Amino acid sequence: MTIAATAQTSVPSRALAPGDIQRLVRDDLDGVDALIRARLASDVLLINQVGEHIIGAGGKRLRPQLHLIAARALGYAGRDHLQLAAVIEFIHTSTLLHDDVVDESDLRRGRKTANALWGNAASVLVGDFLYSRSFQLMVELDRMAVMQVLANTTNAIAEGEVLQLLHVNNPDVDEAAYLRVIERKTAVLFAAATRLGAVLCDLDERHGDALYDYGLNLGYAFQIADDVLDYTADAVALGKNLGDDLAEGKATLPLIHAMACADEVSRERLRRIVEEGDAGAMPEVLAAIERAGSIAYSHRRAVEYADAAERALECLPQNEWTAALRGLARYAVDRDF
Ligand code: IPE
Ligand code: IPE
Ligand code: MG
Ligand code: MG
Repeated sequence: MTIAATAQTSVPSRALAPGDIQRLVRDDLDGVDALIRARLASDVLLINQVGEHIIGAGGKRLRPQLHLIAARALGYAGRDHLQLAAVIEFIHTSTLLHDDVVDESDLRRGRKTANALWGNAASVLVGDFLYSRSFQLMVELDRMAVMQVLANTTNAIAEGEVLQLLHVNNPDVDEAAYLRVIERKTAVLFAAATRLGAVLCDLDERHGDALYDYGLNLGYAFQIADDVLDYTADAVALGKNLGDDLAEGKATLPLIHAMACADEVSRERLRRIVEEGDAGAMPEVLAAIERAGSIAYSHRRAVEYADAAERALECLPQNEWTAALRGLARYAVDRDF
């Protein structure tokens, strides 16, 4: 199939500003939110309470936006993109419920986490509810290609989370190992969100591959930026506690870089901090990160991935929607929450 005429309007390639992206996607996103609310419902009260708590807190809704915009960029004019965007946000939300249990986090989207309020069991089980609800919504679309992408994606996310678990308190995790984890735990869902835009349009592999490439690189950039924010952000703006990664014994890129650059004595000390998940050592870790320029290094790496994401868009039609995708690539690395 060829690209719909509406997608082909040629405008110079540029990046839309966040406000313009919001305006562009608002109607679609309102439709997705209505669908999420309607399909969250269960006659089991606790599911509604926990579900409303995390979904009502908002979040950036970045993954559903990516899907909506990718579909529109290729001229999609149906309604299934709304349902798929809801599926993607349900999957994301279920991983957050599970992640906060694993990470023992107590703040998310500016609210106490579900595990802090209702306990680990409730969080895990409602996470499972959202996960399986996403499958119900996906199956309703009755498209094998969509199910294939999402089955592979959710499986890879689970692998990424387990791989990360194996790295906890391990000071030998290097940048390559770190990248292998973030590809699966984060980037593949971004890549699925964007690839599914092409799948909905029944376009040839080339468009799907380009959008996959865009989403994957954006996902890397986004997670590296998240890991920087865990050291540098303002907790109120972020809506999450800082220092969670260190407390958990999780070496992310800033600390991995600082360890690689440190002298022997200081490297031994940092290794010990990772082995012990010593959150009290945060000032020391921040000093080492500062000495090594690890925040600037990590930011540079994130920008490299964002640039690669933008380059992947070159073979797509250049329109307002692809300009929005470029804008989101910038936003992923420049955000402060
Ligand atoms: C949090 O994702 C999990 C990561 C992959 C870092 P977001 O930062 O997109 O979370 P919300 O949906 O906006 O709360
Ligand atoms: C992202 O990693 C985990 C998921 C893919 C759900 P993080 O553990 O860094 O995410 P936050 O910081 O808790 O949102
Ligand atoms: Mg976490
Ligand atoms: Mg994080």
